[in-house]
Formats: sequence, structure tokens, C-alpha cells
Amino acid sequence: MNNTGCSPTQRLRAWGGLTGGAMLVTLWLLWLLGSAPRGTPAPQPTITILIWHWPFTDQPPELAADTCTRYGVAHCRLSTNQSLLASADAVVFHHRELETRQSCLPLDQRPHGQPWVWASMESPSNTHGLSRLRGIFNWVLSYRRDSDIFVPYGRLEPHSGPTPPLPAKSRMAVWVVSNFQERQKRARVYQQLAPHLQVDVFGRANQRPLCANCLLPTIARYRFYLAFENSQHRDYITEKFWRNALAAGAVPIVLGPPRATYEAFAPPDAFVHVDDFSSARELAAFLAGMNESRYRRFFAWRDRLRVKLLGDWRERFCTICAHFPYLPRSQVYEDLEGWFRA
Ligand SMILES: *[C@@H]1O[C@H](CO)[C@@H](O)[C@H](O)[C@H]1NC(C)=O
Ligand SMILES: *[C@@H]1O[C@H](CO)[C@@H](O)[C@H](O)[C@H]1NC(C)=O
Repeated sequence: MNNTGCSPTQRLRAWGGLTGGAMLVTLWLLWLLGSAPRGTPAPQPTITILIWHWPFTDQPPELAADTCTRYGVAHCRLSTNQSLLASADAVVFHHRELETRQSCLPLDQRPHGQPWVWASMESPSNTHGLSRLRGIFNWVLSYRRDSDIFVPYGRLEPHSGPTPPLPAKSRMAVWVVSNFQERQKRARVYQQLAPHLQVDVFGRANQRPLCANCLLPTIARYRFYLAFENSQHRDYITEKFWRNALAAGAVPIVLGPPRATYEAFAPPDAFVHVDDFSSARELAAFLAGMNESRYRRFFAWRDRLRVKLLGDWRERFCTICAHFPYLPRSQVYEDLEGWFRA
């Protein structure tokens, strides 16, 4: 909506009604405007993104007019007011609420041509009910690099200034796990590793939960962190890698997508990949036999890079506006499930 209340079609009709003289004056004015000094930005309309249901909560965070400006995205408004369905520039549906509860798709009231965004940060193993979402969504927001709106869980960004000191290390390896399931690959790898390496296990699964503020200081005392994803899927690298390991100051031992994927996000010598070893015993021997200078090499990136965590849903949604002008207008995910499981 623009604040004059004049819709684009009304404006077109006004052009048709101009007399010849008025037309000449208007053309001259347009010419003057066209030759105005460069750098005068055209006023940009604000893009309204309607979040149909805020992820995982009925209490969305406060959304102010400048919310996206704080994340470096201008002319972007996020709202959860469903009355804006008729006018929103795009509508976002977070998968969990479509899957489990109150949220249903307002297909009957969808304005013609309104882009709908499917949003999820969960892996395919933890995503259900995709088959009924055929031919509905135009854009995907997810951690997959080939998403229309790609939102990783974190990234490394350039940093200048003194390198932060490495936390003092007194222990070997740690794993924090809240949902331990035997059938998961990470459980098997842990069980193979445990006889050969001292691994302390925290989290609900082991009746040793860590308070939110204790998590990173606890991990920081360890040399290595088992950044084992709950399931192994294309590009699925979560805060276990970015926050629990890299940001805490422990070397991640990763189990997830192949090494090449991690290398697209972080320097090759910043982590240990489980696949680099032919057995758990070999991995354990490598970790335990390491001297201090070899260990410090894992942190070489800290001289020039720092971790940026991207866990905030507001920031993720504001990203839609940053991409908005370039997103494909006529695209439809006919087979969202096929795409996501690929
Ligand atoms: C939602 O939007 C409608 C239409 O713009 C407006 O009348 C209403 O006050 C809004 N509701 C809230 C809770 O902001
Ligand atoms: C530390 O280990 C590395 C790699 O294993 C080795 O090349 C280096 O010589 C060792 N340094 C010392 C001081 O032992």
C-alpha cells in the first residue's frame, strides 16, 4: 500500500485522462526528474511480510517498524496480523505449525499471485506431511544452500582486531545431547568412540542438563566437542557446529553432511570430520595423540574471522525482503517433498 491511497491501476487511468498540454508539461517534468543528479534514490516502498504463525510459539517477539533495519534490511515490515493477508507482499508458513496444530493454509483467501514462502530449519528426518503441500509454495526459506532464501544457522565473517584468547583447556571431549536414540547414527558413533576416548556427556539424555548460561562455559573447558547432527542430510549443519563448538572455543568433531559441505562454510582445518578416519579407534588416537601446536592450528581462523550466529527468526524473515526483488515470480514447488528429500 502506498500512503496516497492511489493504486497503480488508478494511476494508469489518470494518465489516459491528461490533455495534450498537460502531457507536454508532464513530459518536461519527467525529463527534469530524469536528469536530476545521480545518487538521489527513488523512494522505495516498504515490503510487508506476513508471518502466518510465529515458529514454535504463540507469543511472537515484539515486531517494531524498525525491526529489520536493526538487522541491516531497510523497507521491510514483519507482521503476524493475519488481517493483512489481502495486502501482504509475501506470506510465510513455518512448517512445524502446519504439521502439528492450529495453523492451516488460507487457500480460499489467497490473493491472486501472492508469493507464499515455506519455511523450516529442521532436517527431512524431522519433517512430516510434505506430500500434501504440492503446488502451493513459491519460495523456500531454509538452511539448504539451494533455497530461494538461504538462511544458514551461522557463518564466519571477517573480523579485524585482536584475536580473542582461547579458553583454558582441562578436559578432552564433550557431547551435549537431549534426545538420545539408539537408531541414530550419532548414537552409534558415540558408542564406538567412548571405549577409546574420554567423552563427558551432558544434557537431558544423560540426566545432566546444563542451564542455558552454563552451556558454552562448560564446553569451553574441553578440547573437542562432538558436533553430531541428529540426522545426516544435505547442508544440514546446525548451531551444534556454529555455537556449541566454534563460538564456545572447542574444536568440532563433525558428523553430518560430507566434509566438502563443511568446507563451503568453514576453513578445512577448523574441524575434524568423522569420515576422515576409517575407525573410531583411529579417530580417538588422532585426538589423544595431538600436541599443543597441532591443536592450536585448528583455531588459526580466529585471527581473521569470527562466528556470526544466525538463530533469530526475525533476522531470518527480514532476509526475505533483502532477496525480494530477485526472487522468481512465477515459480511453484509442485513437488516440495521431492525437492526437500533430494
Ligand atoms: C491488524 O490489521 C488490521 C488491518 O490493517 C487492523 O485493523 C488491526 O487493528 C490489526 N490488528 C492488530 C492487533 O494490530
Ligand atoms: C606436533 O605434532 C605435529 C603433527 O603431528 C608434528 O609435525 C610436530 O613436529 C609436533 N611438534 C612437536 C613440538 O612435537
